[in-house]
Amino acid sequence: MLGVPGSGKGTQAKMLSEKLKLSYVSSGDLFRNMDQSSEIGKKARPYMDAGELVPDDIVMELMKEYLLKNRIEGNIILDGFPRTVNQAEQLESLLTIDHVIYIDISEEEFYKRLGGRRTCPKCEKNYNIFTEPKPKTDGICDDCGEQLFQRKDQTTEALKTRLEVYHDETEPLVEFYDKLGIVLKIDGMGTVDEVENRIEIALDNAKKSNIDPE
Ligand code: AP5
Ligand code: MG
Repeated sequence: MLGVPGSGKGTQAKMLSEKLKLSYVSSGDLFRNMDQSSEIGKKARPYMDAGELVPDDIVMELMKEYLLKNRIEGNIILDGFPRTVNQAEQLESLLTIDHVIYIDISEEEFYKRLGGRRTCPKCEKNYNIFTEPKPKTDGICDDCGEQLFQRKDQTTEALKTRLEVYHDETEPLVEFYDKLGIVLKIDGMGTVDEVENRIEIALDNAKKSNIDPE
């Protein structure tokens, strides 16, 4: 899953992994959920809080270890990884990417979704105070009853940095994968269900064109 922060990668990847019964991994979640006093945890945290990318060598160490330790076999949805051309090149020796689901949203939508996002500290479910999904009770997780919080990388300053970093470091991946003919560009505006439908159709079409004899 590729796209600007807030484009809905995590939202869509989780639904898709359940529907297609695929493993799912988000590099951002791995960094957030790891022991923050570990070597990698301590190194990564300042970059994340500032909205910058964690250096490639740290990301590759984490992802290689995760994929090996969990002995991921079969297909897997990668969310937020790779995020630089260097990571994508290194990943080529580890696994093959079949499809790149590239979700596109406007800059205005980016600020609305991320500035309004609130997260449950226990189950990690995301809500949004401006858009959907809203919690039934303000500030409280529907499922756990925990107080929702706002991530440090969602302050206005960090959001600006994240957008710049995305354009400089991650957007070039669209061209990188486009050359391989595997990019499915998805309009990420509209409801979660609408975007989900578009992804489903794009994947179906990609599958059909793969089995069509040339
Ligand atoms: P990461 O956790 O990957 O964050 P991100 O991709 O920057 O941004 P999000 O997770 O916020 O966006 P998303 O596209 O998943 O959107 P979501 O579905 O949540 O990375 C965090 C940090 O970790 C990075 O900044 C970096 O420091 C580090 N890092 C991670 N991977 C790295 C790597 N490979 N290399 C280097 N550093 C790395 O949705 C967003 C919001 O919108 C939610 O509130 C949601 O409810 C809402 N929403 C979703 N869809 C819709 C819709 N259709 N309509 C209305 N609202 C919607
Ligand atoms: Mg995410």
